[in-house]
Amino acid sequence: MKILAIDTSCDETAAAITEDNKILSNIIWSQAAAHAKFGGVLPSLAQRMHEERIDFVIDKALKSAFPKSPTTHITQPIAQIDAIAVTTGPGLSIALGVGVNKAKELAQKYKKPLIPINHIEAHLLSPLAEPDTIKHKPYTNIVFPAYGLVVSGGNTMCVLIKNIGEYEILAETVDDALGEALDKGARMLGLGYPGGATLEKMAGLGNKDKFKLPIPLVGQEKRMIFSYSGLKTSLYRLIETHKKVDQNFPTKEDIYNLSATFQDVAFKHIERVLSFYLTNNQSPIIKHLLLGGGVSANIELRKRLRMLGGKFGLSLHVPYTSKLCGDNAAMVGVCGYLKVKGKRQELKDFMDYSKVDRNPRLKLI
Ligand code: KG4
Repeated sequence: MKILAIDTSCDETAAAITEDNKILSNIIWSQAAAHAKFGGVLPSLAQRMHEERIDFVIDKALKSAFPKSPTTHITQPIAQIDAIAVTTGPGLSIALGVGVNKAKELAQKYKKPLIPINHIEAHLLSPLAEPDTIKHKPYTNIVFPAYGLVVSGGNTMCVLIKNIGEYEILAETVDDALGEALDKGARMLGLGYPGGATLEKMAGLGNKDKFKLPIPLVGQEKRMIFSYSGLKTSLYRLIETHKKVDQNFPTKEDIYNLSATFQDVAFKHIERVLSFYLTNNQSPIIKHLLLGGGVSANIELRKRLRMLGGKFGLSLHVPYTSKLCGDNAAMVGVCGYLKVKGKRQELKDFMDYSKVDRNPRLKLI
């Protein structure tokens, strides 16, 4: 099943072509640099930039998936598509609207089925995507039920995946998402926006034991929630306290060490909640842990979750390329395919376009 997928949920204008769970093209035009000077995403700017770029990005996705197409016009390659999938939520309302409207326009024009996709579900299932080669293990090696962990800029959620489309939320954040917390911490350390990846680099140069920050909700793991808003306040206080007694604070060395401490504590919180759950609930039939979302690109987090999973007989599955970790449309196409196939639906069930609308607060279940 060949799908043209579109995602404009936040600050990436993304389009992709997928065939079943294989990725034929995955084009992402990030707006991060434009938003950086505001220290976060400016919705009206995001909308305008999506509008300016969406046609170009879709065209590029089609052309790179079907390079032999004799025409540069969109009509020819799109004829080879079986369906269109689009992220309808959660995300920034006016940004989502650009992708949803474009997907509807194309679906109507070319009479294609239109599959609405939940952005969190797409991140959750992103480790099941494969490149367009036969070298990688097929996702059919993964047997459900499995655990899933989504760690992104907007979500931090641990899920029991009973099957495709059948989920139970085991834990989720009550305030900031992990990526959001890393971004805020990075900004306090002057590392720019979005700062998660830079913070990871700085942390690699530092010593996590030079400073001390409290691990969120220590001793309260049984509540099965994540919370990150207190951690950024603790970092702020730590920085201010040191500044009062040392006018040179923070030095480069201090920034490395603070990054290491902040990242360590942020990840320990996830590890402790998961470990509590698995110690008390791990079912011997569950063998897999799927990790998705922007922060899943972090090597230290992967290492820790691989270790943790190992203790409970779980193997960790991450997206096969970093382009699948952050926001992208390939995961949306693969999710569309898995949903249709998993629920044994027919593509003709997706011809009522009036059912597809943006929902900025869309929930996974
Ligand atoms: O999945 P994503 O693009 O956005 C949402 O769907 O929310 O995730 C973006 C988040 C940002 O907070 C960014 O700082 C973080 O992912 N991120 C990282 C890394 N790469 C991206 N965080 C930690 N380590 C990384 N290597």
